[in-house]
Amino acid sequence: MGTRIDRRDALVLAHYYAPDAVQAQADLVGDSFALAQKAVKSDKPVIVFCGVSFMGESAKILCPQKAVYLPAPDAHCAMADMATEEEILHIRREVDDLAVVVYVNSSARLKAHADVVVTSANAVKVVSRLKERNIYFIPDRNLGAFVAAQLPEKTFYFGHGCCPIHAATTGAEIRAAQAAHPAALLLSHAECPEEVRTMSAFVGSTAGMIAFAEKSDAREFLIATEGGTLYELRRRCPGKKFYLTRESFLCRDMKKVTPEALARVFEGGGTPVEVDEAVALPARRALMRMLELAQ
Ligand code: 13P
Ligand code: SF4
Repeated sequence: MGTRIDRRDALVLAHYYAPDAVQAQADLVGDSFALAQKAVKSDKPVIVFCGVSFMGESAKILCPQKAVYLPAPDAHCAMADMATEEEILHIRREVDDLAVVVYVNSSARLKAHADVVVTSANAVKVVSRLKERNIYFIPDRNLGAFVAAQLPEKTFYFGHGCCPIHAATTGAEIRAAQAAHPAALLLSHAECPEEVRTMSAFVGSTAGMIAFAEKSDAREFLIATEGGTLYELRRRCPGKKFYLTRESFLCRDMKKVTPEALARVFEGGGTPVEVDEAVALPARRALMRMLELAQ
């Protein structure tokens, strides 16, 4: 057993995909971008990150002086390793005037090769501010295509990665959900395939979807993202109705972050996240550049 952590020393951050009971205990709940910003601004010596491993890793890279804990260190994003360092080195040799843009849902090793990191909330803005004409966007080809469609002045090269949970959404599934709820507006995460994105009233990050629902005059919404997001949607929009586009829109890794796992961290059962400084240094540069360009 390690040392117990005083709850008052810790900032508990939870992603919208964490189980409801974990979101309820967090100091802050948000999307990947908002949580990274909060980690940097916090004056607490400890961060407990209720999310998958890349989130804790990014918080540690951005805040090397803080102790960062992941309640479920074995919770990994399936997309985090869907690109390789060799692929990046290869395209850097082949294409001039190139920026390597790495989605935050990636390992620290990939971020270390990035010119800039992006999240789904800031990708369009950050890429639009890069001076390079050619963009290598990895690992998510769906988010990459969403960004490319809005920046026709740039030439994009994509990797082959995707989120298996969002990429499994189909037009047929959406049409069936729309038939069941004809008055509902479709809000989709940018990791969904193009067929689904083009059917949507809004496409973006989880925080963007929630903000859209809050402002909209519509009363019913179809939600194409992980089901944990319903907790915040229902909290912020009482009286509005939300339906997932499929019954089980579930990221199993996010659900490993249970209330019991969170309690164990405070009892001294957690191991602080460590990132080798040789990787952390260039990854920090790419993450900091994101924070600057996203302002
Ligand atoms: P956000 O960028 O909306 O936090 O999404 C992260 C994610 O893992 C989506 O699957
Ligand atoms: Fe990764 Fe997909 Fe889970 Fe998001 S929903 S953490 S992209 S596997």
